[in-house]
Amino acid sequence: MCGIVGYVGGQSALDVVIAGLRRLEYRGYDSAGVAVLADGGLAAAKKAGKLANLEKELLERPLPSGQTGLGHTRWATHGAPNDANAHPHLDNSGRVAVVHNGIIENFAALRAELAERGHALSSQTDTEVTAHLLAESYSACGDLAEAMRQVCRRLDGAFTLVAVAADDPDVVVGARRNSPLVVGVGEGENFLASDVAAFIAHTREAIELGQDQVVELRRDGVRVTDFDGVPADVRTYHVDWDASAAEKGGYDYFMLKEIAEQPKAVADTLLGRIDATGSLTLDELRLPGSELREIDKVVIVACGTAFHAGMIAKYAIEHWTRMPCETELASEFRYRDPILDSRTLVIAVSQSGETMDTLMALRHAREQGAKVLAICNTNGSTIPRESDAVLYTHAGPEVAVASTKAFLTQLVACYLVALYLGQVRGTKWGDEVRAVIRELSEIGTQVEQVLDTMEPVRELARGLAHKDTVLFLGRHVGYPVALEGALKLKELAYMHAEGFAAGELKHGPIALIEDDVPVVVVVPSPRGRSVLHDKIVSNIQEIRARGARTIVIAERGDEAVREYADHLIEVPPTPTLLQPLVATVPLQVFACELATARGNEVDQPRNLAKSVTVE
Ligand code: F6R
Repeated sequence: MCGIVGYVGGQSALDVVIAGLRRLEYRGYDSAGVAVLADGGLAAAKKAGKLANLEKELLERPLPSGQTGLGHTRWATHGAPNDANAHPHLDNSGRVAVVHNGIIENFAALRAELAERGHALSSQTDTEVTAHLLAESYSACGDLAEAMRQVCRRLDGAFTLVAVAADDPDVVVGARRNSPLVVGVGEGENFLASDVAAFIAHTREAIELGQDQVVELRRDGVRVTDFDGVPADVRTYHVDWDASAAEKGGYDYFMLKEIAEQPKAVADTLLGRIDATGSLTLDELRLPGSELREIDKVVIVACGTAFHAGMIAKYAIEHWTRMPCETELASEFRYRDPILDSRTLVIAVSQSGETMDTLMALRHAREQGAKVLAICNTNGSTIPRESDAVLYTHAGPEVAVASTKAFLTQLVACYLVALYLGQVRGTKWGDEVRAVIRELSEIGTQVEQVLDTMEPVRELARGLAHKDTVLFLGRHVGYPVALEGALKLKELAYMHAEGFAAGELKHGPIALIEDDVPVVVVVPSPRGRSVLHDKIVSNIQEIRARGARTIVIAERGDEAVREYADHLIEVPPTPTLLQPLVATVPLQVFACELATARGNEVDQPRNLAKSVTVE
């Protein structure tokens, strides 16, 4: 949430910062702003709405050219998304500018204190206090980084702060606690950003900043300390994707591109993790077999789409390991006093690795002595850094706010963990585990087959653009798929969409069925657990009898559903537990097309932001 860019070097800071903000706009698009140091002063511009509004403003009223600057794209927390509350915030002299991501919890007390000392604050944000405090400390100590450390020691909450001062035009200073900030290391130039995407066009060398650290950035050097000024060790890493990965590449939307990239994302996530004998090799987990054999319970914590991946993982883990597994919304987890100990494995699933609810849940778990394994798509982000072990998904950068390829790779990673636990601990399903590992290695091709047959789904979506409600039903792993289909539709098409466990229908939701209400039903394979299949076929008949328009997602060749399906979407046969990998894809395409047909912003749905770094 909120994207931040800082730059010092030989290029036009404004150009670098605006290009960086463009790549970070997925983090929030309520307003945008920039500041540059030029001609001995500080010039700033900010505008409510998308970055395009700021760019228009800059064309009409250009800023002087300078080589040090910062910028911000906002997802509003405190204060309406208007010009005044947009970042950067300046102190009263107009010589210090600050941008912020996070929430400063003690801002009211600090604001009152500043008002008493005669400061005039002009916004409703929690951020503005930091500009005033920083200017005060800076005028007292004459060192921007030291001033930043002094300010950080006074702040409660979560924050990334980046600041510049007119009196020190060769320096950008940043600080982080619980919110992301990465350094990009260039030649004769350096960058700060919430995400490497902002500077990937300039450098692929990055430095992870740790918790409670302050960084001082000059053209020719980067200095990192803790909040007390003690120098910190820094670790440089190479970003293993290039700028083109974060471009639309000819697609109208990032979401379309990311949906199309799923076969590769799935294959990349499997790469190197299945050996020639068909066994899993996950030594990278750094959790020895002896420790994995000690575990007696698994708890999965995640939010949103990642939570749906976790729900599916529960079925897989319990089946293949015979160990109890709970999946819980990360935002609820620590508030209910969960029972955890050193024999509990907590799995935190997060694309961004920065989701505050998930981070807080994992910290709580570790405090209780549990081991935490992160499943994450973002190298070096906070969640894997704070976990005991990590299994990275290799989806590449996901820019569209609605998660697609990250979800599929989270599923793959969850299956790998479930199968690996089964393999290491021994399971009565040994043959099945080996067979599923084989099937998993084919799954990328099956996702590709689904993508090749999506035109009727798009056509169907366009025909439903005028509807108010779409319902989704599923059983077993089809239930979380139904929830995910409904979530995609809510966030993209702004329609009333709800997912239900099909068996629950008769306990209430069936009252929602009326003439021509579209109901998407995810049907499990008729092979294997045929009871499950038969039950859902009965459910389809029940809703159809009450007038529903049935949209059935079923395995190719499942003749039993054909006569009850007003629209049939066929997916390739997979083992039951793996079916979400193919059944989710049509739902992503469906939501994307419906959003387009309704004239909505596909990549940047209203009110949302990717990477939710506030609780
Ligand atoms: C929905 C979506 C969100 C995220 C959720 C968790 O399309 O993208 O529900 O899944 O905010 O985000 P991560 O995985 O970054 O922790």
